[in-house]
Amino acid sequence: MADPLSTVADLLAPVFADIAGAPADPVVRPSDRADAQVNGALPLAKQLDVNPREIAQRVVDSGVLADVCSEVEIAGPGFVNLTFDDAFLARQLAAVAADERLGVAPAPTAKRVVVDYSAPNVAKEMHVGHLRSTVIGDALVRMHEFLGHTVLRENHIGDWGRPFGMLIEHLLDIGEDVAAEGMQQGDLDGFYKAANAKFNDDEAFQARARDRVVKLQSYDPETIELWQRLVAMSNDYFNRVYGKLDVLLTDDDLMGESEYQSLMPTVYDELVAADLVTESDGAEVVFPPGFTNRDNEPLPLIVKSSAGAFMYATSDLACVYDRVQRLGADLMLYVVGAPQAQHFQMVFAVARMAGWLTDEVEAVHVPFGSILGDDRKMLRSRSGDAVKLVELLDEAVDRAAAAVAEKNPDLDGDAQAAVARTIGIGAVKYADLSTDRIKDYVFDWDRMLAFDGNTAPYLQYAHARLCSIFRRAGVDRNEVRGGAMALDTAQERQLAQRLLAYPSVLDDTVATYSPHKLCTYLFDLAQDITGFYEHCPVLRDDVDDDTRASRLVLCDVSASTLEHALGLLGIAAPSEM
Ligand code: ARG
Repeated sequence: MADPLSTVADLLAPVFADIAGAPADPVVRPSDRADAQVNGALPLAKQLDVNPREIAQRVVDSGVLADVCSEVEIAGPGFVNLTFDDAFLARQLAAVAADERLGVAPAPTAKRVVVDYSAPNVAKEMHVGHLRSTVIGDALVRMHEFLGHTVLRENHIGDWGRPFGMLIEHLLDIGEDVAAEGMQQGDLDGFYKAANAKFNDDEAFQARARDRVVKLQSYDPETIELWQRLVAMSNDYFNRVYGKLDVLLTDDDLMGESEYQSLMPTVYDELVAADLVTESDGAEVVFPPGFTNRDNEPLPLIVKSSAGAFMYATSDLACVYDRVQRLGADLMLYVVGAPQAQHFQMVFAVARMAGWLTDEVEAVHVPFGSILGDDRKMLRSRSGDAVKLVELLDEAVDRAAAAVAEKNPDLDGDAQAAVARTIGIGAVKYADLSTDRIKDYVFDWDRMLAFDGNTAPYLQYAHARLCSIFRRAGVDRNEVRGGAMALDTAQERQLAQRLLAYPSVLDDTVATYSPHKLCTYLFDLAQDITGFYEHCPVLRDDVDDDTRASRLVLCDVSASTLEHALGLLGIAAPSEM
């Protein structure tokens, strides 16, 4: 049930192998001039030193495409233009419509995939970078799971280190209730700043904070308990954000920096034993080959500071160690902002030198750009502080509620609120996912909430509109699945081919960890649906029964594909809005 391009590639593979005397790629691609084109004759002709049109002719003469193409034509220097047979497309699509997986096969080899994402810092506001990591990571998790991989979600929160001395002392000063109250409201930065101010101004406090760090690092039970409460308060807040965002993360996925403390001495000892550690400016470092600064001097990865403390890099080395050895990862994704690119490249390089990262394991930093405000600078709140995520998400829902009330005043209150939530949160997520992740993008309420353009509301609306056809017809969608199809118009053919391309788009999206590719596909799909909707009546009286039945299948599989793909992005598609 592969998409037509792969069907053609499979049929042509033996023909090309025969001509080449060895396997040769027929290079089947979508085309502007026909439905598809075969481009493989040109490179093969070069290799064999023959005229490419001769090879193209052999492709035509082979007759292997008779069942799938109504036209096979040589063009230009040796391309072969293909027009798919309508009945073939209809058969393929009918099979997809009856398939729960919409034609998407599970990956040939199931991997153990570790996804490191979200990773906010305790007692600090989650910033919009954490939003991006959370949303992109969540989409990648869902896609990998759907393809049959075992996914291990790792939320590497920043929950350890020197600042916890002052944070715990501040917690003791203001009392737990006050602290919890502030953090529930998302004022994590307020807590942090107050602690920091005292640390700078008050020597006695500074001394207490220092003692407290020592106690924390020696796992003094009372200190650990205080630390745990502080972490829990932060996590309560993070969980509220995750709940609003509708992502898969739970407390079971927490794997903060603190969890790697006991492993760091081992990691360090092994580096020393492997003779990789050298001294540099009083610190203990590893120099991975190939990394240099602007003056072309080798760049060190610091594993132990001059004060004898393990570093962020050391905890990431421990992470690699743990994920490979204990979790048995085949693939590790780190969904972290672009500024940490060099950090990860160096960590991976050192892990390879130490033998923890072998050729069988793939470690990939999945970087992303920044979210900008209207002024094209990093997004800030009006007061100039970091934007509070909870407030941002609530505003999205409020704005969506206003739009829904205007668009569909008949929807009852509860339904309206639910739809507003789905649209508002969907809009924020989709705005993030639909731009190439490596680029910065401007946060723009009006654009992301618009009901036209490449937005979540536009796609959700396309889905709801298809669902409404079934409501009006009084037809159960399950009943139409498996029915025969006929593709009579250009719009139906176009839509059918788009739907059949879903598996290969998903493959490409996952292979490049680029959710925006799936978004672009969804936007194209929604436009094809609109074209179909405008030209191909379904329920009108003058439509004959067979045509109506076929078009209902097309509506059903279109709606299912929209809903499914949005689902992989972590976005819901209401059936009414
Ligand atoms: N907590 C870090 C930050 O906010 C991100 C951690 C990313 N994951 C990792 N394994 N280093 O920048």
